[in-house]
Amino acid sequence: MIQPVDEDAPERPRLATRELSAFFGRSRVVSNVTLGFRDQEVTAIIGPSGCGKSTLLRCLNRMHETVPGASATGIVTLDGTDIYAAGVDPIAVRRHVGMVFQRPTPFPTMSIRDNVTAGLKILGRHAPRGADAEDVVEGALRHAALWDEVKDRLGESAIALSGGQQQRLCIARALAIRPQVILLDEPTASLDPLSTQKVEELVYQLKQDIAVVIVTHNMQQAARVSDRTAFLLMGDLVETAPTNTLFTAPRDPRTEAYITGRFG
Ligand SMILES: Nc1ncnc2c1ncn2[C@@H]1O[C@H](COP(=O)(O)OP(=O)(O)O)[C@@H](O)[C@H]1O
Ligand SMILES: [Mg+2]
Repeated sequence: MIQPVDEDAPERPRLATRELSAFFGRSRVVSNVTLGFRDQEVTAIIGPSGCGKSTLLRCLNRMHETVPGASATGIVTLDGTDIYAAGVDPIAVRRHVGMVFQRPTPFPTMSIRDNVTAGLKILGRHAPRGADAEDVVEGALRHAALWDEVKDRLGESAIALSGGQQQRLCIARALAIRPQVILLDEPTASLDPLSTQKVEELVYQLKQDIAVVIVTHNMQQAARVSDRTAFLLMGDLVETAPTNTLFTAPRDPRTEAYITGRFG
């Protein structure tokens, strides 16, 4: 049902775009982006506000098309199969490519535990139940570096948590379904410095297992947490390189102008 796309197997990234463009109505906000995301790597997407970072990210798990009038062209492959091919279920794609948003989005009326298991509903009849579900809750909360802070109050409302804890809870919810890739859209934008540090440490832990893509407008953050950085400007991918290289020896004058703070 899913059409394989032949790529060179040894170098093949977990997730990749080829000539990806994204539109709102007739307005194109991402243009012909070709980019790969590898396991055990953090890729940062940087660029000024409005340059298309969130839109690009949302094309990677077919969230973009949930906006009325939004569309995408080009190819996005997960393990070599095109996630936009006819017959591919977008829900199945989102099971493998999880997402966390800029503002923490816990379900306010649910307990901490239920927030984590809410992610499992996407698994339908394959969702773990009972003791298995409890194991998943503990595992995801541990993975999200939140377990020790909440283990004695799993039944309490998620809304009682701090902003930083809520964001880690959302990461736990995304991890509960064991995605192969996690997309983080400015995950620390609304957090204080200490919570930001915790989330950044968590990003480092996450990449031990999966591919991580993080959108940030904070260049210091990109430099701290990522292995590769992609610089986006007005929907165009200007440059992508190992993070060190991009920040110390950018090839494109527009990258240099951006990272030296001449616009932004
Ligand atoms: N729901 C939407 N409808 C129409 N235009 C949108 C919508 N969301 C974003 N845009 C436009 O798409 C462009 C890229 O936005 P976005 O991907 O959110 O940028 P970034 O995340 O880099 O700030 C901007 O010009 C923005 O105004
Ligand atoms: Mg954005």
